Amino acid sequence: MNNVKIIGVGSYAPERVVTNFELSEIVDTSDEWISSRTGIKERRITEGENTSSLAAKAALGAIKDAKIDPLELDLIILATTSPDSFTPSTACLVQAIIGADNATCFDIGAACSGFIYGLNVATQFIKTGAAKTVLVIGAEVLSKILDWEDRSTCVLFGDGAGAAILKRSETNGILSIFTGSDGKGAEFLECPAVSVKNPFVTKNHEKTEVISMNGKEVFRFAVKAMPTGIEEVLKDSPYTIDDIKYIVPHQANMRIIEHVAKKLNIDSSKFFINLDRYGNTSAATIPIALDEMSKAGLLESGDKIIIIGFGGGLTFGSALIEW
Ligand code: ACO
Repeated sequence: MNNVKIIGVGSYAPERVVTNFELSEIVDTSDEWISSRTGIKERRITEGENTSSLAAKAALGAIKDAKIDPLELDLIILATTSPDSFTPSTACLVQAIIGADNATCFDIGAACSGFIYGLNVATQFIKTGAAKTVLVIGAEVLSKILDWEDRSTCVLFGDGAGAAILKRSETNGILSIFTGSDGKGAEFLECPAVSVKNPFVTKNHEKTEVISMNGKEVFRFAVKAMPTGIEEVLKDSPYTIDDIKYIVPHQANMRIIEHVAKKLNIDSSKFFINLDRYGNTSAATIPIALDEMSKAGLLESGDKIIIIGFGGGLTFGSALIEW
């Protein structure tokens, strides 16, 4: 089996910042409510750019960081809940924008765990020799699938994209990786696609194509999924939590992260947080965080970090990475 390493990261978020104060002019909410319940202060919202555009900008950042030619890419995996279209895949649209003519491209849907699922698929392709250089992107324009009259959801999410380049390598960078799903909890976090409409439909099952969430159930799920993710990637490794420099969690909600830090007795400064500035960008939160950390010089070669995602599906996953 080949070794796999992350050799570059990139991210992009729309320039338009929307503060909690601005949201309080649209729906009945307040900065105090949003900040105290979630930790979110502001988010980026696109003024027209779609998911492929955000994704391509993040991808070009990662390509530059990795110092590769787009033609070296033989696989592009794009994780999203908010694709431009059912077909073509958003990965194919990105391929055309960045000029990665030699890549096979597809999207995957695993909501907020999507980047980790994508990382897992990419890792398996490289390990087995089916691919050598892979672009994994998490990209979302969630603002187009939000109900902007529903204060319980529209304040939580934002738009953005992050990307990583994985390459076959001498040394191993993906030390262990874990994913899981629980379809029994599907109803807790949903965004329906188009409803079934044809001349033969006898019953109307129409649902609106916006995100709905049972916040309490998602909270319950998340505070179980995160400790599981940490345990799973550490258990077959020679490392303990003390060897881990940073935990990079899916940036959904500060209360979830604080709850888990307390439960596992981990100093909360070990968790990298940027949700105050971006809100929840679903599949994009982790690669955006990785890019920010890399640019800020927080990650040095040899550092061990754990990334953890959880989200609609329900889905969850984690990876132990040596930078
Ligand atoms: N502003 C003001 N009031 C609000 C808002 C808002 N934006 N949203 C809800 N409320 C009100 C409700 O209407 C309710 O009022 P009522 O008591 O008069 O009926 C009250 O606040 C409490 O509502 P709850 O839903 O019980 O609020 P809760 O304390 O559970 O907090 C939250 C909601 C923050 C979503 C919480 O359930 C949570 O943290 N859930 C975790 C899920 C999560 O973070 N999801 C993010 C995306 S999912 C993912 O990434 C996997």
